[in-house]
Amino acid sequence: MRHFVSVRDVSDLSALLQSAHACKRDPLAHKTLGQHKTLGLIFFNASMRTRLSTQRAAQNLGMSVIVMNVGSEGWQLEFQDGAIMNGDKAEHVKEAAAVMGQYCEILGVRSFPTLKDREADYAERVMEGFVNYAGVPIVSLESATRHPLQSLADLMTIEELKTRPRPKVVLTWAPHVRALPQAVPNSFVEWMKVADVELVVTHPEGYELAPEFSEGVQVEYEQNRAFEGADFIYAKNWSSYQDYGTILSTDPEWMVTQEKMALTNEGKFMHCLPVRRNIVVEDAVLDSPASIVIREAANRVPAAQAVLQAILSSLPDA
Ligand code: CP
Repeated sequence: MRHFVSVRDVSDLSALLQSAHACKRDPLAHKTLGQHKTLGLIFFNASMRTRLSTQRAAQNLGMSVIVMNVGSEGWQLEFQDGAIMNGDKAEHVKEAAAVMGQYCEILGVRSFPTLKDREADYAERVMEGFVNYAGVPIVSLESATRHPLQSLADLMTIEELKTRPRPKVVLTWAPHVRALPQAVPNSFVEWMKVADVELVVTHPEGYELAPEFSEGVQVEYEQNRAFEGADFIYAKNWSSYQDYGTILSTDPEWMVTQEKMALTNEGKFMHCLPVRRNIVVEDAVLDSPASIVIREAANRVPAAQAVLQAILSSLPDA
């Protein structure tokens, strides 16, 4: 594997999943694979789980880790080709990414969307800038449109807990007080489409995902109907793609409740976290045995480790 920015970078999903499960069983089985190699984690935005789990994964492989909060501590970067840099951007990604690539064998990058400029966000200007100019493999720690490390951990969790070969997995929109990116739902859909699951997406009208993600996906606008017989309920808020970046609804009727979970096939509740209690999902669900959000977060370590392992194994000197 060279880069890991979307499911398209995975040539053998089944092998990657097997590797992630093996990393969970025996985290130190390859504890010297990354010796004398450095992972740089570059954050334009806040993170808790992704930062810690990826650091832990790298440590399990013997790697050194450098973390930089470039959004708050670094020079402001320019991403546009041919820009006349007479504003507040001190450095172009062409130099910044190339320099970071001199210090690290692998770079992880987190960069959220603007939620103002749909074209720029969906062109993945930041992630593509790093892929094009760093000269080393890039791992997405969540980009403008995708969060593949989260999706790999989600799929791993579903595999661990499914009680039938082809479980029904429901992605449900839920209310939120802030306008949030579409990266997690986009990515979740992208990964579930290549997994052996029955995927249903439910959301209020106006929250349709971008066509490149929603194509071929079953959408059910009636949330209760979508929940019927589900094995996994994956809740997430996202802002509108069509009316880009706006909040079209805060309808509390879309919150996940115990009453709705009772419609499922003893379904498990999933969320990528952080989650707002009693807005997205009520306490009674999060505090019940049906909630698997902590296992899901724990699986971020073996998921990241499997990805780093695959990249390390394909470095020229491996
Ligand atoms: N789920 C997730 O990516 O969490 P963080 O934003 O805390 O990294």
